[in-house]
Amino acid sequence: MLEIKMDLLKDINPNKLPKHVAIIMDGNGRWAKQKGMRRTFGHENGTKSVKDVVETSAELGIENLTLYAFSTENWNRPKLEVQTLMKLLVSSLKKEIKTMLDNNIKLNAIGNLKTLPSKVYKELFDVIDATKDNNKMTLTLALSYGSREELLNTVKEISIKVKNNIISPEKIDESIINEHLYTQNLPDVDLLIRTSGEKRISNFLLWQIAYAELYFTDTLWPDFTKQHLYKAIIEYQKRERRFGKTSEQLS
Ligand code: FPP
Repeated sequence: MLEIKMDLLKDINPNKLPKHVAIIMDGNGRWAKQKGMRRTFGHENGTKSVKDVVETSAELGIENLTLYAFSTENWNRPKLEVQTLMKLLVSSLKKEIKTMLDNNIKLNAIGNLKTLPSKVYKELFDVIDATKDNNKMTLTLALSYGSREELLNTVKEISIKVKNNIISPEKIDESIINEHLYTQNLPDVDLLIRTSGEKRISNFLLWQIAYAELYFTDTLWPDFTKQHLYKAIIEYQKRERRFGKTSEQLS
């Protein structure tokens, strides 16, 4: 576990914050196993990191935070683990509605949401509705989310519009694709963080991360604190984002 003793906040340039941070929260199971506990204990402790990161992002002034909470592939995990994750979602939503209201955070969700258990779906949309007028930060939970599925849906929806003469094929451009993604109202991801040492994207926001800076850390998700987030942002601010141009063109 990487311990950060200093307060790194002073090293962050508030004028160069990423507008959209996305996080693959990984390592809950390994964190629990290291402690001789069951995997679900890791998920329970992962919710503390979620709260910490959400509050810290809002405090910093990050406008969009997207968390990969449950992938389409996660349905294949043992039934008990899936049930625990769904229960944790409901309890976290119930508990954290106050945090979202106090911090002016708007909740959003992306993914194949209809596949969620009705209790989760209801709680999710209750909180989405209660926070819809908040405007400091949009917190997006990716739930039953898979990027390939999202892209397939996009292709299908656009094809139907082409078939019905609503869109002409020559007019299809990046903005039309953006408008049909689950993330339609969100900007591209600037910084993608993955915890736990794995260096994979795992079917997360494949279109939206085209120019994102990638940040991988060995820290397991339940150990990830506000100082770890600061560290990732400091590293992001050191990177030169060229978007295909040369360094000379940028300066
Ligand atoms: C990955 O760790 C984590 C998940 C699949 C779930 C993430 C869920 C939470 C952090 C808790 C609930 C979320 C919210 C938004 C309240 P893993 O199980 O794959 O870990 P491993 O790779 O070590 O097995």
